[in-house]
Amino acid sequence: MNQKNIDWANLPFSYSKTDYNVRTYFRDGKWGAMEISSSEYVPMHIAATSLHYGQEAFEGLKAYRGKDGKVRIFRWQENAKRMRRSAYGIMLAEVTDEIFYHSIVKAIELNAGYIPPYGTGATLYVRPLLVGSGARVGVKPADEYMFMVFVTPVGAYFKEGFKPVAVQVVRDIDRAAPLGTGKFKVGGNYAAGMRASERAHDEGFASVLFLDALEKRYIDEAGPANFFGIKGNTYITPQSDSILPSITNMSLEQIAKDLGLKVERRRVLFEELPTFEEVGACGTAAIISPIKKIVDKSTGETITYGEEAGPVSTKLYHQLRGIQEGTVEDIHGWNTIIEGI
Ligand SMILES: Cc1ncc(COP(=O)(O)O)c(C=O)c1O
Repeated sequence: MNQKNIDWANLPFSYSKTDYNVRTYFRDGKWGAMEISSSEYVPMHIAATSLHYGQEAFEGLKAYRGKDGKVRIFRWQENAKRMRRSAYGIMLAEVTDEIFYHSIVKAIELNAGYIPPYGTGATLYVRPLLVGSGARVGVKPADEYMFMVFVTPVGAYFKEGFKPVAVQVVRDIDRAAPLGTGKFKVGGNYAAGMRASERAHDEGFASVLFLDALEKRYIDEAGPANFFGIKGNTYITPQSDSILPSITNMSLEQIAKDLGLKVERRRVLFEELPTFEEVGACGTAAIISPIKKIVDKSTGETITYGEEAGPVSTKLYHQLRGIQEGTVEDIHGWNTIIEGI
């Protein structure tokens, strides 16, 4: 493996080109053989359903170079499962575990020189993408699909360390309807939330905090991350049918239990926020973004937490990061090691 000459420590959290991606086509009712491409572009029919009707789903996971030099991927089976749930939700062809796994491993192996070294905080982001490529003019699922995987090295999410951020509660824009597609990882949800999140960024917030769309009384999730709070010895995270089931959150719940905390997954009232000692957003990108301030855009109500990350969030963060980087024992068998790179 020839490590690329990249300034890993200053790598931004954004797309940069790698050498290859992989593509598999679903035609005539079945998946074909995986193809390797060195192009960053995708030839697409002008009437493809992904372009017109948003018939597309994606996933996001990372490859980590551990302290022992080994490359690990974290709970990829959960990403594969979630992509099949998304496929079911918006009627895409489903990708089997086998195709999913071989595609992500191939994309990582072909770009092994882009896997950031241990200790830089940078990681290799892996993006599986499933799109309706068949032509339709009427609203109907496509008869052809493309499953693609590209990878891109991304810098540490927190350049200045593990620092709490401010988030903005939004009531005038919903990302997903109560019985809609919020629980699937489909592009339409992200398009729906973009106006709210860009406005929040412009107003100085790291992210938005969405409430349940029906009553606006309960916490849903924090932009592209789930929400959690710590109260006493309990890790509390919202139960909602319109949030994405986060694999990070699921893992933090287990780690919290392992550390002797109680875990509650239940509806969380907005009014309950001031009773939490620590709150945070969690997802693959940052593991945990501790939250220092929640501001309701409509009422101006502000709830503040510590300027520094709380002790429980810090412990959970280091424990999960340690498992992913091979410095904490992987007692649940969450990692898959990719040998030979
Ligand atoms: C809407 C949304 N919620 C939550 C998450 C966190 O999920 P995960 O922990 O699986 O990355 C993501 C990121 O994938 C997301 O896009």
